Amino acid sequence: MSAATLASDQSVSTPLPVLGRDVRVPLVTGGEVTYAALDYAASAPALQRVWDDVAAYAPYYGSVHRGAGYLSQLSTDLFENSRAEVARFLGCREGDQVVFTRSTTDSLNLLASVLPADCRVFVFETEHHAALLPWREAQVTCLDAPRSPREAVQTLERALADREPYGPALVCVTGASNVTGELWPVKELAAAAHAHGARIVLDAAQLAPHHPVDITASDVDWVAFSGHKLYAPFGAGVLAGRADWLQEAEPYLAGGGASRKVLRRADGGVEVEWHATAARHEAGSPNVIGAYAIAAACKALREADFGRLVERERELIARVRAGLADVPQVRVLSLFGEDAPRVGVISFVVDGWNSSHFAAALSAEYGIGVRDGLFCAHPLVRTLLGADGGEAGECGAPEEGQSLNAIRVSFGAGTPDEHVERFVRAVGELVTDGAKWRYRTVDGRCVPDTSA
Ligand SMILES: Cc1ncc(COP(=O)(O)O)c(C=O)c1O
Repeated sequence: MSAATLASDQSVSTPLPVLGRDVRVPLVTGGEVTYAALDYAASAPALQRVWDDVAAYAPYYGSVHRGAGYLSQLSTDLFENSRAEVARFLGCREGDQVVFTRSTTDSLNLLASVLPADCRVFVFETEHHAALLPWREAQVTCLDAPRSPREAVQTLERALADREPYGPALVCVTGASNVTGELWPVKELAAAAHAHGARIVLDAAQLAPHHPVDITASDVDWVAFSGHKLYAPFGAGVLAGRADWLQEAEPYLAGGGASRKVLRRADGGVEVEWHATAARHEAGSPNVIGAYAIAAACKALREADFGRLVERERELIARVRAGLADVPQVRVLSLFGEDAPRVGVISFVVDGWNSSHFAAALSAEYGIGVRDGLFCAHPLVRTLLGADGGEAGECGAPEEGQSLNAIRVSFGAGTPDEHVERFVRAVGELVTDGAKWRYRTVDGRCVPDTSA
């Protein structure tokens, strides 16, 4: 398919309404356009339905688990029902707990804090830093980047088989890469983990917004994701799964809400009995709006027919990949190769361009918001770039033709066809004709030079 075939009359179907779809932004070259938000992998726009549900609830807002008043009781019910909706969305098992956190990062740090003392942790070097860094260094075995899903399973099996002694172990793996968008063989990795007596947590930050996640069917022990990537940007996240390690450990945060009973001891100390429910790890006043927004997003995706959304996104991915393939100077980053199933997250470099310059020109000249950098997955991006890393240089061509960072375009359920069409056209024009404006580096970022 060539860029010329990306005519808007080839509409694949309708996106879900999101906030910001009509926002106009100025172009440095004059005039303005509707903003094309193509950075869903960082934070997705709120679904209109999530916003409407939150707005409808807002007047009834009240304290959770505390007040005797009507609105407190209503808010408590809403908060607890939100857990049930998330459990349904994730296909949780009987007895699984849904803990509301701040984000995926927070969820994985919470899990790290409850691991049995001698637990080994296995992670691939390809993980997002949120999944790579929360574990104590002495616990971690960092596995080489596999070049196929099969190699991922074999690498994990070898590492687990080699481990001594045979104590508790956790595998942490992403469902969809935040760099390549490629899907990881979660079910097979879970089977390998369990066969060797290990548990597994799925980092679904990039999977959940694009693809149904089913804890039971994939047989993972925990799932973590963030509301702001799932069209619910109200500061909440989720850790869902097995209750035992969560309930055997000390609370993640100590304080009200996590404690069932607190007594002043005769010796002057304080004695506490902690909750044995999700509340154990939710000390302090819960973020009821954040939790409700996530539940509203889960419901909206479920009711919109997730299968249809996946199909639509697949067509958008095909359009973007075909459009990029038409530009020989573009190299798309991939670990698992051309045919790997993926979500709408695509990273690439452009020969002769500094990625920061390219991303700045997409924004300033076309009104397109993408991201450039190493995407909080430094080891993976460096492996894919074949670069040792370093700071991105001044705007302009990368030194010695080597890219030190990449450009990432990402989209999802709210993306209209026109945004991906504009993006493909913009990439072609920038590569063929060059930027129409001058750029300079300010505080490490490439920006249009408006000083003249
Ligand atoms: C795969 C993956 N895991 C974890 C995270 C961390 O998410 P948050 O920043 O919401 O904690 C991200 C964020 O980009 C991600 O892409």
